[in-house]
Amino acid sequence: MTASTRDIVLSVEGLKTWFHSRDGVAKSVDGVTFDLARGETLAIVGESGSGKSVTSLSIMGLLPKPAGRIEGGRILFRDRQDAQHDLAQASPATLRRIRGAEIAMIFQEPMTSLNPLYTVGDQIAEAVLQHEGGSYAAAINRAREMLERVEIPAADRRINEYPHQMSGGMRQRVMIALALACNPAVLIADEPTTALDVTVQAQILDLLRRLQAEMNMSILFITHNLGVVAEIAHRVAVMYAGRVVEDADVYDLFEKPTHPYTRGLLSCIPTASLRASGERLRAIPGNVPSVLSLPPGCTFAPRCPLAASDCLAAVPELVPVQTEHRARCIKVNPI
Ligand SMILES: Nc1ncnc2c1ncn2[C@@H]1O[C@H](COP(=O)(O)OP(=O)(O)OP(=O)(O)O)[C@@H](O)[C@H]1O
Ligand SMILES: [Mg+2]
Repeated sequence: MTASTRDIVLSVEGLKTWFHSRDGVAKSVDGVTFDLARGETLAIVGESGSGKSVTSLSIMGLLPKPAGRIEGGRILFRDRQDAQHDLAQASPATLRRIRGAEIAMIFQEPMTSLNPLYTVGDQIAEAVLQHEGGSYAAAINRAREMLERVEIPAADRRINEYPHQMSGGMRQRVMIALALACNPAVLIADEPTTALDVTVQAQILDLLRRLQAEMNMSILFITHNLGVVAEIAHRVAVMYAGRVVEDADVYDLFEKPTHPYTRGLLSCIPTASLRASGERLRAIPGNVPSVLSLPPGCTFAPRCPLAASDCLAAVPELVPVQTEHRARCIKVNPI
């Protein structure tokens, strides 16, 4: 898709989310920018602590208060009526209306969203009643339909079960059914398959892909696993220390990675020949800097093989290197 034909549903512009504590200010998200188009999957990748989850909690209005605050930027969301909201400034009532109904979220651990005290049918029905009203009978019917849609066998019986009676993979399916019950435009999936074994992970990715096509839904897929990115994403945003350092179409990113950090990440993917040779997996030397004291200029410079003194002068801009492909590095040639 080209810029002019991408139908943008969620646009995050220069988002800054900081945490205030006695130790100082943690600039966990410090100028994150990306667009999500309708029907598209955008993967956000980056090492642990790069600000992926804080970005998604900022969009959902679920930051731990009062420590976490949005200090700047905009989170523009177009709702079903085509009205635009800046979720960074929205009232708690607007956020409650949008959250769960128009933007839904699934987590790595299903038990963070599922209540152990209610049957899975009642939980899905409750979400439908809360956002759409109507009768309990209609809501429980929707719950059954949703369980069938996420391919839970014997949905008629399973609807009366409690989360603990189910396997991890089945609970993940219930969480997806719950998230999608109100037909959201955007699904935020934060490491949804990390805790699952490889076979179940592949099944859940297949399911998400199929549901996305059926519902023309947009997915913000958060992961540190580039193998999963290649499976599911249309576009990729690479995060480092609270900023997007590169974003591109998934093929471009794997074929022509531009930012030295992205190149480093890609060279760390284990390959079959590497495994066979018993060679150790490469890792990018050094660590992600502390968000309490970020280095000046480019925050990747201390680990970057190309770093020079001018990299420390100022934070590089995210500049276009090709159509729909941008990188935050002064060593790349902008178009
Ligand atoms: N409640 C909080 N209070 C203070 N700092 C926080 C809080 N939540 C997150 N942070 C800090 O913000 C930074 C980004 O955290 P975040 O959880 O977004 O990372 P992540 O990219 O999701 O990592 P992971 O891959 O491990 O899930 C981290 O340095 C973290 O310590
Ligand atoms: Mg996280």
